[in-house]
Amino acid sequence: QVFRLEDYRPSDYLIPQTRLTFRLARGATIVVAELTVERRPGTDAGAPLTLDGDGLKLKRLELDGVGNPTHEATPDKLVLTQLPESRSFRVLIETELDPDHNKALMGLYRSNGVYCTQCEPEGFRRITYFLDRPDILSVYQVRIEAPKPEAPLLLSNGNRVAGGDLENDWHFAEWHDPHPKPSYLFALVAGDLGCLRDSFTTMSGRKVELGIHVEHGKEKLAAYAMDALKRSMKWDEDVFGREYDLDVFNIVAVSDFNMGAMENKGLNIFNDKYVLADEATATDADFANIEAIIAHEYFHNWTGNRITCRDWFQLCLKEGLTVFRDHEFSADQRSRGVRRIAEVRTLRGLQFPEDQGPLAHPVRPRRYREINNFYTATVYEKGSEVVRMLRTILGAETFRASMDLYFERHDGQACTIEDFLKVFEDASGRDLSQFGLWYNQSGTPNLTVSPSYEAGILTLDIEQSVPPTPSESRKRAMHIPLAFALIGSSGEELDFSAAEGATVENGVIHVRKRSHKLRFHGVAERPVLSLNRGFSAPITVAMEQRPQDLIFLAGHDSDPFARWQAFNTLQTDALIAAYRLLLGGKEAKYQKDIAQLAGRIATDATLEPAYRALALTLPSETDIARDIGRDIDPDAIFSARSKLAAFIAAANREPFGKLYEELGSLEPFSPDAASAGRRALRNTVLGYLARIDGGADIAARHYNTATNMTDLIAGLGTLAHEHAASSQAGAALADFAARHASMPLALDKLYQIQSTAPGTQALETVRALMRHPAFHIDNPNRVRALLGAFSAGNQTGFHRADGAAYTFFADALLEIDSGNPQLSARLATAFRSWRSLEPVRQEKARQALVSIAAASSVSVDLRDIVERSLA
Ligand code: ARG
Ligand code: ZN
Repeated sequence: QVFRLEDYRPSDYLIPQTRLTFRLARGATIVVAELTVERRPGTDAGAPLTLDGDGLKLKRLELDGVGNPTHEATPDKLVLTQLPESRSFRVLIETELDPDHNKALMGLYRSNGVYCTQCEPEGFRRITYFLDRPDILSVYQVRIEAPKPEAPLLLSNGNRVAGGDLENDWHFAEWHDPHPKPSYLFALVAGDLGCLRDSFTTMSGRKVELGIHVEHGKEKLAAYAMDALKRSMKWDEDVFGREYDLDVFNIVAVSDFNMGAMENKGLNIFNDKYVLADEATATDADFANIEAIIAHEYFHNWTGNRITCRDWFQLCLKEGLTVFRDHEFSADQRSRGVRRIAEVRTLRGLQFPEDQGPLAHPVRPRRYREINNFYTATVYEKGSEVVRMLRTILGAETFRASMDLYFERHDGQACTIEDFLKVFEDASGRDLSQFGLWYNQSGTPNLTVSPSYEAGILTLDIEQSVPPTPSESRKRAMHIPLAFALIGSSGEELDFSAAEGATVENGVIHVRKRSHKLRFHGVAERPVLSLNRGFSAPITVAMEQRPQDLIFLAGHDSDPFARWQAFNTLQTDALIAAYRLLLGGKEAKYQKDIAQLAGRIATDATLEPAYRALALTLPSETDIARDIGRDIDPDAIFSARSKLAAFIAAANREPFGKLYEELGSLEPFSPDAASAGRRALRNTVLGYLARIDGGADIAARHYNTATNMTDLIAGLGTLAHEHAASSQAGAALADFAARHASMPLALDKLYQIQSTAPGTQALETVRALMRHPAFHIDNPNRVRALLGAFSAGNQTGFHRADGAAYTFFADALLEIDSGNPQLSARLATAFRSWRSLEPVRQEKARQALVSIAAASSVSVDLRDIVERSLA
């Protein structure tokens, strides 16, 4: 079944009130739903009430207190006909669930003995029959009954209003959420957990009780998450004027979870990977992710919960906007320039390939078969970039005024992208209809820019094009805000007296047509162009730039992103040239200046260490593959990249060695951005030092003297990837496994390192690790760490030329699919760029996809990804 945006129709009925009673028992959990149903004004009195279900077992049905009314029930649907004439009536539905055997992790399930729920997008219908769509807002009252020893903790949304003991050592709690909400925001948790408590006083002086619930004994590991939560609450008040609106805010960490976390009203549920952290168990990257995800889910309280989506096509209304908000939060908490570079790397690493392959879709899709497959980098990350462009175009003040208007106008509503854009149009008086294409047209726009300079006049010939994507062959011209600077020979920004040919304001060129001839008058000297500064638009830019100009920008651009980009472009150009040489049977060749520049950047004390670490990180193999675009040979890419790293290392042996020692002076651990930046720089430099003689010893010493997980993983990864055959690597891997035998989240890091070790033998390693006693195929974290990392992060291992890894992976996907379709479908996106491979691998990958499609039982989720990939 295909769902289409244009088919949206309001429901015939509303459910203003929902009363739920859960009796949680092993094997058979009972759910009683008492719904107050209202016929929508204008609905025919004879209209049936059709409720969504998914695999449900109906035990009892009543209409206005009378049993067994006229109805038709299947596991996936409940239709009531011959309804009362009165506008409002009551429906009672009793269903029976088996949370222990729910491996899909949607609806009500048990994770590590804890009952928990995941309802977004369509999990609520696995709990009871309902109008399970986001435009049905209901006030929930929830009663949970459970055996007290097994589940002393009983949580749901809103505020706790009652509780007490029952017979046979059972007890109950009742929760009331005064804010009408869609069913996807419903949540319940019951179990035996420890709790870290704190409180936050809001800007109007209301005290909110905060609780983070984790496995007993792990309370201390929630301290960083709690700190991040309080900072998020404060930040949303300061920056967006948004205050929290309940008396309690609870977060629960569970160990089986399909995504990062979920923003259920007043009761966020998290993948424990994004809650638990201390220096011994989490890397700096984990700390940064925890901070960002805690913030993200908290910010959903306004952008998502108070104002929600009319239908799932509007998913980016809450996700893109909330990602933008969490990006801004991290920028304010850490280093703005460094965060921006990291964001762009994520976007290019995950979203650009999506946009360039068979799974491309607009930020607001127009059709889907399975909505779970649209929680994508396009909806989230590109969606965030679109909001960022709105701010660039309107300016920070008008942007804030528009957001104020959005909250004021739409609080309590289920909205569309049109509602959102209208707010910005009304607050600014601008016409944003062309800008709206960013939501509706897929593909990454490209700008070709040809500059020429003569007698004080700089001319830019700008051409825009959007490549064709599935079901959109003809594209319209987009509104692209291109931030720029003209940089003079002394590194200063040059002025110009006038610009004609396009609107230029506040350092931004507004590209709106397919082609512009843009003239800047009164430019004192031939400038070096700094374009798409701060990555003002999610596009690719093609411009012939002399290497000396790029070197100049890499040393002088005052915009940190553009400065990083200049060096990154130099690296990419060198890598692609070497790749071509290697394919032609020649030696890879690199110019000295690239190594010199690396040395200068590494030791430039005026630059933040975190920035230096990013600049020294070569484009990944997937980055390079994406930029080459077609006929990819992953082995040649790997070889070109290793050779450039070795070349840079050899040329900088001394400065790198010295820097490594300087950065190694022990300081007490702190997860803050500056300390993390120093560790990142030292660990990046380690990656280079490991490539010259004695490298295995340096890496082994690094591993053996590490006092935190970040350094430990850096040492281990360097050994396992750069010196796989060494005795030191073997020893470190065994040591890490033994030391963390009872710590699944730490073992995930081991799986990830081992599955991404370059070369064909990785497949055997992965096969062996799947039999590791701590590996469980129904735990998404384990699967992602092993199979996700292997397929998405091991270009030479996964894409080995004989196709053996594809066959293996296809089989593994089918096995996962039988329990958790969402997970198998997500993993299958590793095939999305199969058409850009060289012909031999391409054919093997295609065969693997075809074999999945031909399997006897494949979920809708997995089939959707596979068939779109093949189309
Ligand atoms: N709304 C959650 C977030 O981004 C993601 C939940 C997605 N769930 C899913 N089953 N696809 O914060
Ligand atoms: Zn979200």
